[in-house]
Amino acid sequence: MDAKNPWAGIPAPDYDAHMGANGQTAALREIFAQVYGEVRPVCLAILGCTTGGDFASVDPGITAEVVGVDVNAAYLAQASELWAHLGERLTLIHADVLDAALPEHRFDLVHAALILEWVDAPRLLAKIRTLLAAGGVCTLVTQEPVSGVPAVSNTGVVSLQQLAGYITLRTAAEVSTLAAEAGLKVSSQQLVPLPGGKAFTLSWLRAE
Ligand SMILES: C[S@@+](CC[C@H](N)C(=O)[O-])C[C@H]1O[C@@H](n2cnc3c(N)ncnc32)[C@H](O)[C@@H]1O
Repeated sequence: MDAKNPWAGIPAPDYDAHMGANGQTAALREIFAQVYGEVRPVCLAILGCTTGGDFASVDPGITAEVVGVDVNAAYLAQASELWAHLGERLTLIHADVLDAALPEHRFDLVHAALILEWVDAPRLLAKIRTLLAAGGVCTLVTQEPVSGVPAVSNTGVVSLQQLAGYITLRTAAEVSTLAAEAGLKVSSQQLVPLPGGKAFTLSWLRAE
């Protein structure tokens, strides 16, 4: 694991306060609820799962296997308590997503929200390509670069500002190009505007 990953030291309450303050948490939960309802995955992987807010949408009657990966051990400890009702369906992996030992060609849905910004993007997309089951889909949420809007919002949560030097934003078009280079085809992209001028892009990716 990359001991220098700054995310490993961001406390969960700081993260929650930051993301809640600028509308990102609500947007992320809404996006995943929509994605989950459309895909109804039997096998689901969430990369950069944080404390597992998206697990709230998981219906044990639909999904037999949920894997969450995150580099921050404290987030996963909290997730395992919060989502204990998922029982043996839920596997939480504390690892750098690029190194995590995940089964190949397994997942009907790989959801990766706001993690491409923090990693070697071509490597992550290539890895996602290997994880998808036949007919599987990846839903990728990325933050659009917006002129005049800081990449890491100033919400008054001091610890989050140490991340500002590590983030790389990409336009929807750049995401499409990178995905194609990894053997993934973009079947649709949707802009999701946020309060305060930020915007996410939700990209649906399928193996070519
Ligand atoms: C902006 S948050 C993602 C938000 C989350 N997906 C959600 O929907 O609420 C980024 C997450 O990715 C994790 N992360 C960052 N770099 C990582 C890496 N290289 N490997 C695994 N997790 C990473 C962070 O610890 C953090 O939980």
